Amino acid sequence: MDIHENKLVGEIEKLREEFVKTTEKLIKDVKRQDKIMLRSDKRQQQEYDELQKKFGEVEALQKEIEDTQKEVVFTMGAIGESRSKETGNHVKRVAEYSYLFAKYYGLAEEECEMLKQASPMHDIGKVAIPDSVLNKPGRFNEEERAIMDTHAQLGYDMLKHSNRSLLKAAATVAYEHHEKWDGTGYPNKLAGEDIHIYGRITALADVFDALGSDRVYKKAWDDEKIFKLFKEERAKHFDPKLIDIFFDNLDQFLEIRDSLKDTIED
Ligand SMILES: [Fe+2]
Ligand SMILES: [Fe+2]
Repeated sequence: MDIHENKLVGEIEKLREEFVKTTEKLIKDVKRQDKIMLRSDKRQQQEYDELQKKFGEVEALQKEIEDTQKEVVFTMGAIGESRSKETGNHVKRVAEYSYLFAKYYGLAEEECEMLKQASPMHDIGKVAIPDSVLNKPGRFNEEERAIMDTHAQLGYDMLKHSNRSLLKAAATVAYEHHEKWDGTGYPNKLAGEDIHIYGRITALADVFDALGSDRVYKKAWDDEKIFKLFKEERAKHFDPKLIDIFFDNLDQFLEIRDSLKDTIED
């Protein structure tokens, strides 16, 4: 090898060494970068997981609150009814009938659901009526009737302070379920569409169920007698549109009645 070649080999060797060094450094850098990325990825994933967990907890809590609210409302309704010796299934049936009326009347699903939950509260005011009046067998005298009729106002007064939409709906139902389409009801002698749709619906659902059930003071009416009364009271006691809905969908109302029959213990 002459001196020329020797120099060339030396330079190539140097270049090769530098190349290796640079490559190693690059690989190291990339590895370090990967580690950093991995660490931050991990942290991000952790934060994300934690957030998801929190969301889940909040959601569960929200559901718990909603369920509790529903249960309280339903239980309150049942208390109101049990004081007046109604059967446990009465409020359940009224709830289902109300939902069906609301649906066919054209209310939004959310409102149908709201009314379904609020309508069992219609007689909550009865908790404040003395037993001697509430459970008297036979007909009321005038004074007893007047006391009994205060249950609508009493129920409203109990619920009116709440800002919760469900309790507000329940207040409306309690207040207006004895108003009549022709303006002869109580407590405010409201007429027609001045009566809130929740009140008009619960009125019909409640009467339909009450007439078809045995009570302390009367036997259940047979269907023909109930239907005759409904036809007579169309646009008098009851919203004509709701009476039409009732007859147009009779099979569905009777289906609810059959599915929620009173048991002997009731
Ligand atoms: Fe009532
Ligand atoms: Fe009732």
